[in-house]
Amino acid sequence: MLELKNINYSVFEEGKEKQILKDVNLKIEDKKITVITGQNGSGKSTLIKLIMGLELATSGKIIYNGQDITKLDTAYRANNGFTLAFQQPVKFKGLTVKDLLDTASRKESNVPNACEYLSMVGLCARDYLNRPLDDTLSGGELKRIELAIALAKGGDVFLFDEPEAGIDLWSFDALINIFKKLKGKTVIIVSHQQKILDISDNILILSPSRPLEYGPKQKLLNRIKKYENCGRLNGGKNE
Ligand SMILES: Nc1ncnc2c1ncn2[C@@H]1O[C@H](COP(=O)(O)OP(=O)(O)OP(=O)(O)O)[C@@H](O)[C@H]1O
Ligand SMILES: [Mg+2]
Repeated sequence: MLELKNINYSVFEEGKEKQILKDVNLKIEDKKITVITGQNGSGKSTLIKLIMGLELATSGKIIYNGQDITKLDTAYRANNGFTLAFQQPVKFKGLTVKDLLDTASRKESNVPNACEYLSMVGLCARDYLNRPLDDTLSGGELKRIELAIALAKGGDVFLFDEPEAGIDLWSFDALINIFKKLKGKTVIIVSHQQKILDISDNILILSPSRPLEYGPKQKLLNRIKKYENCGRLNGGKNE
């Protein structure tokens, strides 16, 4: 069980404190798909970074399977079951797709097993294994390769920040199938896409002006519909 207790996160901008997350209390259900949604700037990526240890909470605790991991670094979390695919994939100049898949899976990837991960994301291994992870890859290719690397790494808690970004509509079903294949893992996906909301078990709505809402898909989809009908997705300004 992943638990966030009274999490606050602030940054200082031009000498002024800016609170990005306020009193986040949450128990994320194990082995289920949770989709985090909410308006731009509501703190979704920040929450993912706090769970992964890329940023440290200003106050509060993160407990994973009874262990306080609040102050443990990203490498520890990565080695203990946490796997992240970023909103903006990271480029690694000088390293090839194969290098990254090898590092992620901690073994030398031959074409058949690298092919498995790359074909899961709709890419042909022979075309991509020796490609460098740099600007020569298109945005969508880079995003897919990042997903393949996350799958090769494996884990117990998968964090995907807007995995659909840059993925063409024709490949959307393949993306959905990746999440279905992760059944039995704790999967946390930041997304605005209805098709991804539809495969969730639970939904978390973040808003800068309201307390977070977390619960079963159907209940939260109804909440989203209500906000949309009232034009309230923009932080409740029209409430
Ligand atoms: N280091 C920082 N300094 C200043 N502001 C920051 C910092 N990190 C995040 N923010 C701000 O915090 C807010 C939340 O950012 P975050 O990236 O978590 O939003 P998000 O919900 O993921 O948005 P999007 O849907 O656009 O990806 C934004 O207003 C962002 O500008
Ligand atoms: Mg984001």
